[in-house]
Amino acid sequence: MLRKSAPLPPQTILVIGATSMIVQAALRNWAMPGAHLILIARNAQKLHAVAQDCRVRGAEEVETFTLADAADIAAIEPTLNKAWPKGVLLSGALIAHGDLPNQEQAQDDLEAIAQQTMVNGTSAACWLAALAPRFIAQNTGWVAAITSVAAVRGRAKMYVYGGAKALLSHHLEGLRQRCNGTQVRVVELLPGPIFTPMTAELGRMPLLTTPEAIAPRLVQACGHGTRGTNGKVYLPFAWLPIMTLLAHIPTRIWKGMKI
Ligand SMILES: NC(=O)c1ccc[n+]([C@@H]2O[C@H](COP(=O)([O-])OP(=O)(O)OC[C@H]3O[C@@H](n4cnc5c(N)ncnc54)[C@H](OP(=O)(O)O)[C@@H]3O)[C@@H](O)[C@H]2O)c1
Repeated sequence: MLRKSAPLPPQTILVIGATSMIVQAALRNWAMPGAHLILIARNAQKLHAVAQDCRVRGAEEVETFTLADAADIAAIEPTLNKAWPKGVLLSGALIAHGDLPNQEQAQDDLEAIAQQTMVNGTSAACWLAALAPRFIAQNTGWVAAITSVAAVRGRAKMYVYGGAKALLSHHLEGLRQRCNGTQVRVVELLPGPIFTPMTAELGRMPLLTTPEAIAPRLVQACGHGTRGTNGKVYLPFAWLPIMTLLAHIPTRIWKGMKI
């Protein structure tokens, strides 16, 4: 369980993929008087609207930076240098961009697999790599990324997406060990199905919920710590026992399961 704590004080937070619906729900919790929000996304128009909403909600300072596409790895360091200038102390950073491919269309298409692995895995891992030394240098704060319950085990129905998220999950676990003994916390956020543009066409899904319903737990996990979760936070909590169970099913049984 997450530690229950008092309401969070205003924070200085950097978000990559700030136009995501899940992030927008979190920002409605983070945007308060005194908060400094640094928002990065690819769509300038949507980003402007998200930033305006944060200002209306009382955030003291909201900055925006656009990035052409997640695949533009060369743009990460220059963008971060502008967004997080030397001397600024960050409370935390959230890596949130992602894309859900159609598994059947992508699974035998080499270009699609490379592109999806780039968006959901490689680019997010590169953002993590760019952020890590800065957090370690300031020796405080949290760095979080959104993976997925799909990252926990390979399933025939979702392994292109799940495999890319598993790459990110592995980087988070390694970075968490690297940061052990420092004041930097590494948080993996593992949502189950959430109703957003990404899942709008998928129809019925188990435990389908909304960005608003999971946002308080996400915000708490980032800001207050993840004691008792080992830094892996399922959204909602109900996925923890489910995924723990699924993770322990032997491969000889798992391979014949239709889930
Ligand atoms: N919804 C779910 O059921 C679910 C479950 C597990 C994990 N997640 C993860 O949660 C995160 C947020 O997703 P969401 O559900 O909030 O969906 P969303 O509203 O569709 O947001 C997706 C975000 O990723 C950005 N993005 C997509 N492709 C990109 C690319 N090639 N380059 C740069 N940015 C790109 C989008 O930018 P634009 O606004 O410009 O499109 C948007 O900011 C993702 O990492 C997703 O994989 C979602």
